[in-house]
Parts: sequence; structure tokens; C-alpha cells
Amino acid sequence: MAAKMRTVSGIQPTGNLHLGNYLGAIKNWVKLQDESECLFFLADLHAITVHNDPAELAANCRDMVAALVAAGVDTKKSILFNQARVPAHAELAWMLICNTPMGWLDRMTQFKEKSGKHKQRASLGLYGYPVLQAADVLIYQATHVPVGEDQKQHLELARDIATKFNGDSSTETFRLPEPYIGETAARIMSLRDGKAKMSKSDPSDLSRINMTDDDDTIAKKFRKARTDPEPLPQTLEELDGRTEAKNLIGIYAALADIEETAVLAEYAGKGFGDFKPALADLAVSKLAPIRDRYEELRDDVTAIDAILIDGAQRAGQLAKPTLDSAYQALGLLR
Ligand code: TRP
Repeated sequence: MAAKMRTVSGIQPTGNLHLGNYLGAIKNWVKLQDESECLFFLADLHAITVHNDPAELAANCRDMVAALVAAGVDTKKSILFNQARVPAHAELAWMLICNTPMGWLDRMTQFKEKSGKHKQRASLGLYGYPVLQAADVLIYQATHVPVGEDQKQHLELARDIATKFNGDSSTETFRLPEPYIGETAARIMSLRDGKAKMSKSDPSDLSRINMTDDDDTIAKKFRKARTDPEPLPQTLEELDGRTEAKNLIGIYAALADIEETAVLAEYAGKGFGDFKPALADLAVSKLAPIRDRYEELRDDVTAIDAILIDGAQRAGQLAKPTLDSAYQALGLLR
């Protein structure tokens, strides 16, 4: 085990942030930074693998930074930046692309899902997405990468790419990163339909808690959340099939930072008439301070850009030795 843990993680800069983004990813980053040296970045180069409106992309990047900092990502502890500002990502990605057999990419299930029926119309970048992702972590000699279920295959590929590059060049250019199995990211579902993920594109605004919702709106949305007439059970197993109830328990547990079983221990036998107001109070108490900081910072583009520029500079310095070694390993003169 390496004495020093270095974790690298990226997030796509989606706009209209909501509770699902916060509890699903952002909150875990805030915790991670106390356990490890962390590099966190906005995967803007990944975002352009599909069509993006340029003005929206830039705005989404800045919004995500505001949200991350508001939620507790501390730029004194961690390095926070956007990928495009550290050219080493793109440079290494090209070297790795030239070293990755197409057959390996053909096996990636996410490409199959994202490209859908129109594979021939998908960009070459979307196909190569996992190779850029490999570059993201290999460039920093990451020891750990937090991976959800959907990213496991991409981390395996990064390890295969690193092994092949080291072997082909008879060097030890890259360290093989390990998966970081932290808390499983909460999977937050729509408040109107327990089978659909909470999403910025759901036409019903009642289906999600937006990062910008005021206290009354948060409370109202939980009050109107879909549930069933049964009281809350003693055990998690008894929640099976009660998707809406399960979701609300999951949200409560994630917000309070306790186990779902602990939530049930407190509310078993009670109905939603008791549970929903408690959940609404908890949500407001946790989210209101984040929302207020978010809105304040969001208006300060100069401050956000300063954070990103500083982060990119620090990241670029850490990337340089590996980038130089990779060029050298391939015999490229520079
Ligand atoms: N593909 C990741 C996602 O969609 C984002 C990402 C890009 C990433 N590069 C990464 C995550 C490197 C971890 C490490 O969520």
C-alpha cells in the first residue's frame, strides 16, 4: 500500500444542479478530501464528445465549481480545475489512443448505451472517451479512483492501457490505479416516480429539489412527494417494491449521514404525515446554507475563474513529470 494516497476524480459539468447531483457525487468528494490528497476536475473535454452549446458549457462549468465549493470542496486541501486548462490531459490521451487496440474499446458498454442506434453518427471522441478518462488518472499517478458501478469498466481499461504502455516501452511510466470503494453514492430518484432517476430534464419541477430552491419550495416538494398509504416498516427488506418510500428514506439517510436502518429505527410505525415534515426540515437545514453560498459564489465569475486558474496551474505541475516521461518513452523529440 502506497504511503500516500492520491485520488483523482472527474465530473461532467451538467447544468441545473439538483439534490441528485449533490448526494450522488458532490457530497462524496467533500468527504474524500479528508482521507486523501485529491485532484478534482470538471470533465469539460469529455462533455464535448456529444453536442454542446458553447455558452451553456462554459456556464455549466462555472456553476459546477460554485456548487462544489459551496458544498465544501476546499481548494486549500484539494486541487480543483477544469480539464481543458491542463493540456497534459489531451496530450497524453493522444499518446494512449495510439496505444489502445480498437478491440478493447469495442467492449465498452457505456459507448454502446450512449451511441444508441446511431453508432456511425457518434463522434470518434465518444468512442475514445474511456481513453481520455485513462489519461485523466494516469497523468497524475493516481493511487485511487472512486468508481461507481457504471465506471468500473473504464477503470479496468485504464489499468490495461497503463500495463500495455509500460510493457511496450519497457518503462514504468504509469502507476496502476486502484478502485476506491467508499460509500456507495446515493442514487436519488424522482419525487414523483420512484423508478426514474432525479433528473434536470424531467418536465415536472416537483420531481426534483433544485440547488436553487428556496426553503418553502423544498418543503412543499417533499410534502407533495409521491408515497404510499402504509406506515414505515421496521426493516429495509419490507421497503422492497415501495420505491417512493425507499427513495425518501434514502434521501433522509444521505442528508443526515446515517444508515437507512437508523432512519427506520426512528420512524418505523409512523406514517408519511410524520415523516415528510421531518425530512423537509432536515433538507432545509442541510441545503439552505449550501444554496446561499452557491448563489453568492455563482455571481462572482472572477472568483470562480481564479479558483480554476490556480487549480489548473497546480495540476499542470503535478502532470508534467509523467507527461515528459510518456513523450520520452515513445521516442518523441521535444
Ligand atoms: N466519466 C465520468 C462520469 O461520467 C467522469 C470522468 C472523466 C472521470 N474522467 C474521469 C471520473 C476520471 C473519474 C476519473 O462521471
